[in-house]
Amino acid sequence: MEIYVVDSYEALSTRAALIVAGQICAKADTVLGLATGSTPLGMYRELTEMHKKQKLDFSRVISFNLDEYLGLAPDNVQSYHYFMWENLFQHINIRPENTHIPDGLAADTDAACLQYEQALQRAGGVDLQILGIGRNGHIGFNEPSSRFTGPTHVVRLSEDTIKANARFFASVEEVPTHAITMGIKTIMQAKKILLLANGKEKAQAIKAAACGDIDPAVPASILQLHPDCIFLLDREAAQYL
Ligand code: F6R
Repeated sequence: MEIYVVDSYEALSTRAALIVAGQICAKADTVLGLATGSTPLGMYRELTEMHKKQKLDFSRVISFNLDEYLGLAPDNVQSYHYFMWENLFQHINIRPENTHIPDGLAADTDAACLQYEQALQRAGGVDLQILGIGRNGHIGFNEPSSRFTGPTHVVRLSEDTIKANARFFASVEEVPTHAITMGIKTIMQAKKILLLANGKEKAQAIKAAACGDIDPAVPASILQLHPDCIFLLDREAAQYL
C-alpha cells in the first residue's frame, strides 16, 4: 500500500482526478469502479473540467459503481443512480450503456447480484477502483463483520452507516436499511485501487485500515494485502498515521 498525504481536499481531488485521467489515457477502454458519497465529489468536478477543457475522452470508458440502496428507483434523488448522473455522467461523454449501477429495484436480488458480477467479468474486471471509506472502516457497503464477505451481495446497513448517511435524507427513517454492494472479493480483484479520505472524522478508520490488524471488523484493512493500492489522504484524515 502506498500512502500520499496532501494539504487540502482540493489538492486531493485534483490528484485523484489526475490518476483517473492517466489511467484513461493509458487505456481508453478502462473499466472504472466508482464510488458515491461526499468524498469523490471534488474528483468528479475535476474530471468534468478535464473533459470540457482538455477533452479527456470517456467515450470508451466502462463504469461499475460499488453500490446502490435497495428500494430506491433510479430517478429517486437519493439513489446512487441519480447521484452519478447528477455529479458526473451527464457532464462527460460516457455512453449510458457503458455505465453500470446495481439495480435497487430488483425483484430477485440474488439474480441481480450474480448478473452484476457476470457483467463485470465480461468487461474484463475493474482496472481502477475508486473507494471512499466509512467512519466504521466500511468500503462499498461492506460493513464491519465477523468475516470478510465475497462477491456482490445484499447487505443490511449498520446503524452507524444509516446515521452517517441520514445527512442526505429528510430524516433518518428515510434511509434505506439494505443495499446491494460489490463484495470485498470483487473489490480486491480490481487491478488498482485508489482510496480517498478527507477530514478528521475519517482519521481513526484510516489508522485502523492502514496500520491495524487485517480484521473483518475493519473491512478496509484487507486493502493492506492488495498489490497495487493507494491511500490518498488530506492532513486531517492522515493525522494518526
Ligand atoms: C459509496 C460507498 C461508501 C462511501 C463511504 C464514505 O458508494 O461505497 O463506502 O465511500 O460511506 O462516504 P462519504 O464519502 O460520504 O464520507
